[in-house]
Amino acid sequence: MPERLVRVRAPGKVNLSLRVGPVQDDGYHPLITVFQAVSVHEEVVARPADEIVVTASGPQAELVPTDSSNLAVRAARLVAERAGVDDGVHLELVKGVPVAGGMAGGSADAAAALVACDALWGTGLSRDDLHELAAALGSDVPFALLGHTAVGQGRGHLLTPALARGEFHWAFAVQDRGLSTAAVYAAYDDLHGDTAPHPTERDDVPLMQALLAGDAVALGKALHNDLQTAALELDPALAEPLAVAQDAGALGVVVSGSGPTVAALARSRQHATALAAAFTAAGVADRVLTATGPVAGARVVQHGD
Ligand code: C5P
Repeated sequence: MPERLVRVRAPGKVNLSLRVGPVQDDGYHPLITVFQAVSVHEEVVARPADEIVVTASGPQAELVPTDSSNLAVRAARLVAERAGVDDGVHLELVKGVPVAGGMAGGSADAAAALVACDALWGTGLSRDDLHELAAALGSDVPFALLGHTAVGQGRGHLLTPALARGEFHWAFAVQDRGLSTAAVYAAYDDLHGDTAPHPTERDDVPLMQALLAGDAVALGKALHNDLQTAALELDPALAEPLAVAQDAGALGVVVSGSGPTVAALARSRQHATALAAAFTAAGVADRVLTATGPVAGARVVQHGD
């Protein structure tokens, strides 16, 4: 019998705005965030196997755990459990999104693994089922399923699609060193304690208007990240790519999620390339990426032998 194969692509994200309230009893922080999916992708190739196993390739692949702590392994187990399947799967993760970079690469793997296992095993789970499993895996996983531009509330997992016009151009300064999301939130607590203000949707009205109008200049001015100060506290050298992007005329620049990737909004595709070159020339990034957003969420790109 020929080998079956399912290939799924899932995007990384940038938080255009990330507003963080005071820590709750469950250890999580209430958020209001605006996600945009960008054309930096993870690919997950799923093939039949006796057990659920994962391997990783691509930049920084050696940093990815391949044991049962891997989110893609956990995703496969959840699909098997939910659908009553006892098949195995080999999930090959082809990394494109920086590892522990604040762009939700692990979450993209998990979203892609959900879609890939569903397709490989023919389990026919609904979009709602997949969303529920995604939310159980991590705060950013539901958005990697949905893609495009969306407002996230709760832990970031309660999503409302946002209207956005046009295409935005980004340059990313990527670091080899990662930052732990939990550590950045803990640093945020040290800075704010119980006094962090509860975010409201009103705070992002200018940003939503900029998206609606497709106005990159206004979007650049509205970029916002409450975790940026905490990320800078843990990794002060991040001030350098922020300054370089500003000097090179970025419309806005922000730490992506919990960092350490720095995201710079460009005027055009050419300007994004120029911003990336400025990061490289100044020696403030281990790797640079350019991308456009918004793009689609996790989807099957190959299903066959
Ligand atoms: O949900 P996820 O496992 O991706 O979150 C990783 C860590 O980030 C959590 O353990 C928690 O410390 C922190 N977090 C948080 N509040 C959120 C989302 C994540 O404190 N809304």
